Amino acid sequence: MTEITPGRQSDRPVAEAPRLVAMTGADAGARTMGSAAGVGGDAVRPHSPAARQAADADVAPGSSVASYGSDFLLLDVADAPAGGKADWLTARLRQAIGDGRLAVGGRLPPTRVLAAELGVSRGVVAEAYRRLTEDGHVEGRRRGGTVVVAAPAVPLPAVGAAQPPPPAGLFAAAPAPDVFEALRAAPARIDFTPGQPDLAAFPRAAWLQAERTVLADLSAGHLGYGDPRGTPQLRQAVADWLARNRGIRVAPDEVLVVAGTAQALTLLHPVLRADGIDSVAVEDPGSLGTRQHLVNGDLATPPVPVDDDGIRVDALRATGARAVLLTPAHQFPTGVVTSGERRRELLRWAAGDGGLIVEDDYDAEHRYDRPPVPALRALLADRVCYMGSVSKLLAPALRIGWVVPPPRYRDALVNAKRFTDLGNAVLPQLVLARLMTSGDLERHLRMLRGRHRRRRDAMTAALAAHLPGAVAHGAAAGLHLTVTYPQDVPDTDLAAAALALGVKCQPLSWHRQLPGRPGLVLGYAATPPGAIAEGVAALGEALRALS
Ligand SMILES: Cc1ncc(COP(=O)(O)O)c(C=O)c1O
Repeated sequence: MTEITPGRQSDRPVAEAPRLVAMTGADAGARTMGSAAGVGGDAVRPHSPAARQAADADVAPGSSVASYGSDFLLLDVADAPAGGKADWLTARLRQAIGDGRLAVGGRLPPTRVLAAELGVSRGVVAEAYRRLTEDGHVEGRRRGGTVVVAAPAVPLPAVGAAQPPPPAGLFAAAPAPDVFEALRAAPARIDFTPGQPDLAAFPRAAWLQAERTVLADLSAGHLGYGDPRGTPQLRQAVADWLARNRGIRVAPDEVLVVAGTAQALTLLHPVLRADGIDSVAVEDPGSLGTRQHLVNGDLATPPVPVDDDGIRVDALRATGARAVLLTPAHQFPTGVVTSGERRRELLRWAAGDGGLIVEDDYDAEHRYDRPPVPALRALLADRVCYMGSVSKLLAPALRIGWVVPPPRYRDALVNAKRFTDLGNAVLPQLVLARLMTSGDLERHLRMLRGRHRRRRDAMTAALAAHLPGAVAHGAAAGLHLTVTYPQDVPDTDLAAAALALGVKCQPLSWHRQLPGRPGLVLGYAATPPGAIAEGVAALGEALRALS
């Protein structure tokens, strides 16, 4: 638990923007080198699908990639406020990407060229490109310049502007099975829904390249029915990944590829029942989503309190449950890392009392201050069923995850997978295996860590400014933090008021079965620092209005 104190200003230029080649200087308030350059002529030309495709493939200068030329958007630096040229240029470029004048796939001018044309320092342009990279709108390509990769999905109204009304009852009643879909569908300008990595950062070019290579090498036989456990290539790549990143040593044959943690839990239902288990204890607070998956299989989910060391093993024993679902590396939602002593106690419970630990390792790779703690599976293979997925590493939409079950459950789980879907789709498995073995996934993760850390800092700084007295929990890792506040305001009311102001988040009480302090669970990974500051300011406004 940490009292919120202002973090470092995360919007500042930093050295980590590995793919942004144009970043040579980074002084946002840099001096101008010439007079205001009025630029004339046509703005931007449309770009063909072929040009866009070429841009996606990391091509070198001189290739067919569309490049924005010198009549750049009719920008006039005389419009920029004194000392705010980088802000001004960023806003203009963002606007042009949003309204389509800068199309996805087009290349921005080199910083040197644009700086000379506008009569500003190169640092101003580099800073604007850095912020757009941070937003996920552009990407630096080593020899291909800076390319537009994503436009905002919809033009967004300002925070506090009239919003369509939130769905009635979203926060009024106990969360229904479809509550996450209902929240997703709710319109909001700023989305702090936890559990989202930065989807704008998805490594499209690397994925495309890996897919091309895989398709070129693929034999016709690969396109038939596959092994229900997953392709040998992905099982090997996952086994290597787990050894490198999670301290788990397993043979590829021990890995079962599944459609995410969600499917892993559903496949476990009959396997647990066959072992006489009809109750799986859960952390409290603990993930509503994973609990719903257990409840859907008619399993009881007795709550066990979590303290600063992790789940309370004495309380776990008291439930009498023979299995427990845990997030030991970064507890959801509190962010507590299970302490060494508590891990030993848990392992004693599992080994001595014959307990089963279902280990949900959902975001362990995202640590900012130190390497992740090893998985419990690394310590007690016989009593731990380990689950991981790419939902937080790449994208939930891929629906790829893995289970490393205790040996005695292996055959039954493979059977459950076989009779569910005969195995995951083969092509995405092969592409993922390639990203894992080529080092591209680890490179992507390193890039994400820097980006997420800056966003985490932006959120803690904004919380300190706008929610004085609040406490941030679990900010050392992951994609979200939890904030509790001293005011006597139900968190469902606060989440509803925030949504009315255009800011989406989850009330902590959704993730509780036991009574406890109100709070909010706030995802920061998918939101650029500027929007984080704006969104947290709105949360502060909503809390003040309700207090
Ligand atoms: C606690 C927890 N576990 C697991 C997951 C991921 O589930 P899946 O791998 O099915 O996408 C999530 C997603 O938000 C989560 O919050």
